[in-house]
Amino acid sequence: MHTAHTSRPAPAPRQAYPCSDDHYPASIGATPAPDRPTSFRAAYDELVAPQAERQQASHRSLALVRRALEAVAGTADDLPASPDGLADWMAASAHRATDAYQAYLAERKAGAPRRFFTNRTHALHFLQAVAPTKLVDGAWLHGCLRYARDPRMAGLAQTYLEELGNGDETKNHVLLYRELLRSHGLSEGQHLADAYFEQGALQLALGHTTEQMLPEVIGFNLGYEQLPLHLLITAYELNELGLDPYYFTLHITVDNADSGHARKAVDAVALNAPRYPDAERYWQRVRRGYRLNDLGLGTNAVIGGFDIDAEVLRIFAAKSVAGAGAHSDYCRIEGRTVNEWLSDPALVGGFVQALVRKGWIVQGGDPAQSRFWQLLVGDRAEMFGVFSDYELQAIFDWMRGAASADGLKYDAPRVPAGARARSFRAEQRLRALRGERASLDAVPEPTVGQLAPGAHWTAEGLDATRQLVASMRAG
Ligand SMILES: [Fe+2]
Repeated sequence: MHTAHTSRPAPAPRQAYPCSDDHYPASIGATPAPDRPTSFRAAYDELVAPQAERQQASHRSLALVRRALEAVAGTADDLPASPDGLADWMAASAHRATDAYQAYLAERKAGAPRRFFTNRTHALHFLQAVAPTKLVDGAWLHGCLRYARDPRMAGLAQTYLEELGNGDETKNHVLLYRELLRSHGLSEGQHLADAYFEQGALQLALGHTTEQMLPEVIGFNLGYEQLPLHLLITAYELNELGLDPYYFTLHITVDNADSGHARKAVDAVALNAPRYPDAERYWQRVRRGYRLNDLGLGTNAVIGGFDIDAEVLRIFAAKSVAGAGAHSDYCRIEGRTVNEWLSDPALVGGFVQALVRKGWIVQGGDPAQSRFWQLLVGDRAEMFGVFSDYELQAIFDWMRGAASADGLKYDAPRVPAGARARSFRAEQRLRALRGERASLDAVPEPTVGQLAPGAHWTAEGLDATRQLVASMRAG
């Protein structure tokens, strides 16, 4: 992007920043609040739309950011007293995270259970729950792009471009996350409660308010781009459960404190300080922006909030809407037909209990022994295809209870008792040995040919189909 301008000074930005640090405090409450979106999700949907009208989006965003700043006004943070201490602070917090990670690894080596994910469903549920935030990764810096040729802003704009993979589809963070969701049968999270959209809506809003909220954007970025312990543990445990940790490991490397996003975030604080005549006031605004990272549901809250009973009930209740009326009436369970049980989502909890009482679902054992599970999977299962991969995994882990800690995939060949699921990297190495590869490359022409309508039903066609399906599942 800078290639044409490397030998001459960057042109001044056309749009000036408000340099009075009175701008933000004076404006709180001074302008009538615009119509509030009814929810974080409504704001998120409005602000993420590429066709969002700029003026209205910035109006909405300002209101949202102001309310968020009020919410964190009285909270504490761990930043140094003055920006001079930022480089040391960054180094110290990165050290704390890596030291704590080494202690975690030692604990695990000594036999401690996973700290975050009790089973595979727990991990997939986490990936789903943070999807609204991950799918707008980098959004808070979007507005900085306009000033990419301003040396004070170039680092922030470059960070944004790196979130986009500089145009490389295998490195675009949002595309990587979309692919991760898709390969596990997860959705974009439209069923999630409103609180899951708060952080994403806020990040989008910051991207629309660069001119008014630059110190806050810089402060927010400072917090978001540091290396947290939870990122390291998440990557480790995802891999252990056979799930691709690349999205998370990528962030461990790009956010590094030496030259990465963390460093650029610290530099942006100093580079932009001279715009604001009151240095202390500027620093306080940066700090408050930093604290916006605490809003919404963080990693630890999402992980701690997982309840497999509630998640399985949610899955059954959502499915009951489609299933009511789809069953024949010849089978009655505790006096009600299946269609009657499914006619009201409120009955679903009772229905599941009845299935357990009647022995259709046997909890704590191998699901293969349960009649209900046999209806869901297998070649001639009556309900084959009704549940997504993720939903089947949740039902599988729920039926197995504590035994699900081994991370077994619901459709994996049964491993001997006590054996562990294969890690993602081990699985990948095995695939490489077998000559299979998982990538975002175009499907090779010969494969496309083998899957043509006149060929796919032959032995070669079926073989090529299985290979393609396996490589797509591998993500
Ligand atoms: Fe990212």
